[in-house]
Amino acid sequence: MKNPTEIENYAHDQYGNDTNLQTRINIWDYGLNKTPISKWIFSNIKFPLKGKILELGSGTGKLWLENLSNLPQVDSIILSDFSGGMLDVLKQNLRNKSDLFSFQQINAQSIPFPDETFDNILAFHMLYHVPDLDGAIDEIYRTLKPNGKLYATTIYEDHLNDLYKILTEFNLKVDRFSKNFSDFLMRSGLFKLKSKFESVKIENYSNKVIITEDNLDSLMAYIRSTMSPEYYPQYPLFEPKIKQEIVDIIDSRGKFTFTGKSGMLIATK
Ligand SMILES: C[S@@+](CC[C@H](N)C(=O)[O-])C[C@H]1O[C@@H](n2cnc3c(N)ncnc32)[C@H](O)[C@@H]1O
Repeated sequence: MKNPTEIENYAHDQYGNDTNLQTRINIWDYGLNKTPISKWIFSNIKFPLKGKILELGSGTGKLWLENLSNLPQVDSIILSDFSGGMLDVLKQNLRNKSDLFSFQQINAQSIPFPDETFDNILAFHMLYHVPDLDGAIDEIYRTLKPNGKLYATTIYEDHLNDLYKILTEFNLKVDRFSKNFSDFLMRSGLFKLKSKFESVKIENYSNKVIITEDNLDSLMAYIRSTMSPEYYPQYPLFEPKIKQEIVDIIDSRGKFTFTGKSGMLIATK
């Protein structure tokens, strides 16, 4: 049984500032898919977007930073995050970049706006961090206008399987399957949204990352960023062994690869 407090504590621990998020974003620079996920997300949402937009869990605002020259023609975009530290970074990155943007500290579980305020709500790779997921989905539904759309991205259940296989060998509980995540991966998320919204559409995205001796340090930084001392105190002991196992694979096969599998759920009210 999942404990909402543990899910909440984990999200706070991970996103008090932007360091972990930034480290994890960097690994995808080594992916074979030359369209980064932020560009892919943007191409999926740009043209349908209209009216008043709310983004939940905006993080560092990378999506908007990378697409500043090509913003959609909408009335306004509220960028938000529940973490004050993340919101500071978000403001630093995007303040004065467009009149469309405003910034607000918002927890997805309690959206401080009246019913039927927004034409679109965006939630990219964040709903799995929300402990009261049903409450957040109710709030999103409530604040969307009739026919309004939620665009939510998340990971597939077998996201990064090849990497997690190695971590599992060392008994490091992989957080996506652990008690620290809510049930909003692609399949569970689809199920949740279908029970509430009129219709739900799926778009898929994948990216295979190639690791060699040259970028092994970036992979180790990625793994470390998911292994905070509070949850994985034993990790430093295993790190050299994990690294050696990956080096052995690179020596025998020339590379170590793993695939990120994500998707977008587009739900219409
Ligand atoms: C994996 S990051 C994704 C950031 C950004 N959307 C992106 O795709 O790069 C998850 C973000 O959700 C935020 N978050 C976690 N729980 C939240 C909640 N209950 N309400 C609002 N934001 C939350 C975190 O602070 C973090 O910035």
